Amino acid sequence: MRPLKALFKILMIAGVVLAPFASASSGSIRMMPLEKWLPQQEQISVKNLLRNISPAGTAKGAVVASPSRQNPDYWYHWVRDAALVMSVIVDQFSMTSVPEKKAYYMDLMWDYTEFSRLNQMTPTPSGGPGEPKFHVDGTPFVGPWGRPQNDGPALRALTLMKFARILISESKTEDIRRISSMIKYDLEFVSHHWREACFDLWEEIKGHHFYTLIVQHQSLVEGSSYLSLLGDNGAAEWYRKQAEEIKGELNKFWDNERAVIVSTRNRVGGIDYKKSNLDSSVLLGVLHAGVSDIFSVDDPKVQSTVLKLKQTFRTLYSINQSGPSAAAIGRYPEDKYDGYSSAGEGNPWILITNGFAEYFYRLSRTYLQRKRIIVTPANKPFFKDLGFDLTVGVIDQSDRRFSGLIERLQSEGDEYLVRVKYHIDSDGQMSEQMNRWSGYLQGARDLTWSYASFLTALQSRL
Ligand code: NOJ
Ligand code: NOJ
Repeated sequence: MRPLKALFKILMIAGVVLAPFASASSGSIRMMPLEKWLPQQEQISVKNLLRNISPAGTAKGAVVASPSRQNPDYWYHWVRDAALVMSVIVDQFSMTSVPEKKAYYMDLMWDYTEFSRLNQMTPTPSGGPGEPKFHVDGTPFVGPWGRPQNDGPALRALTLMKFARILISESKTEDIRRISSMIKYDLEFVSHHWREACFDLWEEIKGHHFYTLIVQHQSLVEGSSYLSLLGDNGAAEWYRKQAEEIKGELNKFWDNERAVIVSTRNRVGGIDYKKSNLDSSVLLGVLHAGVSDIFSVDDPKVQSTVLKLKQTFRTLYSINQSGPSAAAIGRYPEDKYDGYSSAGEGNPWILITNGFAEYFYRLSRTYLQRKRIIVTPANKPFFKDLGFDLTVGVIDQSDRRFSGLIERLQSEGDEYLVRVKYHIDSDGQMSEQMNRWSGYLQGARDLTWSYASFLTALQSRL
């Protein structure tokens, strides 16, 4: 490491960069205006997230889900969490123009890439890249677990492609070759195995999942254009065809009677008590797929599902009966995982509540780009819930209701961040969950994915 870069790393990790904020208290965070809190929490989130990449005692490139080593033990490299976190690192690289920071983030990306290559090459219990988690030294976790989880390779391919596009823009031929073989390894797996049942992102149900399929779909869509860019037209065509077929499967998740996109079909194993089949993972799938040509943020089916989730969690959790106007959101209503054991009571999650903020920000951006809002019978109740009683039809940007709606969507997004701000620790620490009765944080502390979700939400804010 070059001296400047090393110094930067030490400063980041020592928190010197954050010294002015060191004395915030819970009360003061709660009272702080949102605009003041956001940049402060941004710095804290970046710093705490970085602390969980290659921390002492792990192999380079390992991303621990949380520093918590017991109750719960999250001291592992989860393929899913790591991909979502490293996608944020690529964003950080792109957003900064400070050469030392760029070099530092570039190093992290390579560390992650090399660690992932090791994961890909290691024989695992599930026998392929759907293995959910690895020890921090890169050896596979072989104990009993819900495996495979086939969203992992799709998410990893998406992050590696995002990284590779930077390398392409810099014409790093040798590096591109190295990373492309890894991307193709994951995409080959996805394109040949997406029909198989696997465990969901919550590691609980074996079957076909909306979340898994939509990120798989996106990885193949992007993979197809990536490979044609590299001149590998055979693979590009095969991925495109598979993506098209996944689309057909995804459409089957829409339950017209209940007006929701359900989370799982064809369950073959795992927990059996998620009777509602209503799950925030559907929204996370839409967000993690990025700009998708199916189930985009402004799809009335997605909006209808978001409304159902909002209404369900608003009444389910006691903390939502007071405090900020937006509800803290959980995984699914029947959830029993309390962050320590599955014999407990489910709670709202920080990364999901942040996800709701991101959703409303992205929806308002999408409408601004499209310059119009289409109201259908399926999304009419969604707008009604936001205080807009609209008739079916088109509202274009010259309509005075257009800007009112845009503003309303943005303030709705803000409200979810205000909700998170209301419950997090005085030092900006974000655990996995917020207790549904008291609002206090619980479950794995410093959950890396919680910070990543805050940063992507913030990035979507106008
Ligand atoms: C830990 C998993 O990560 C969590 O998602 C799950 O709810 C519990 N184990 C119970 O299976
Ligand atoms: C439990 C969550 O359900 C799962 O999605 C996540 O990968 C692990 N915890 C690690 O954060």
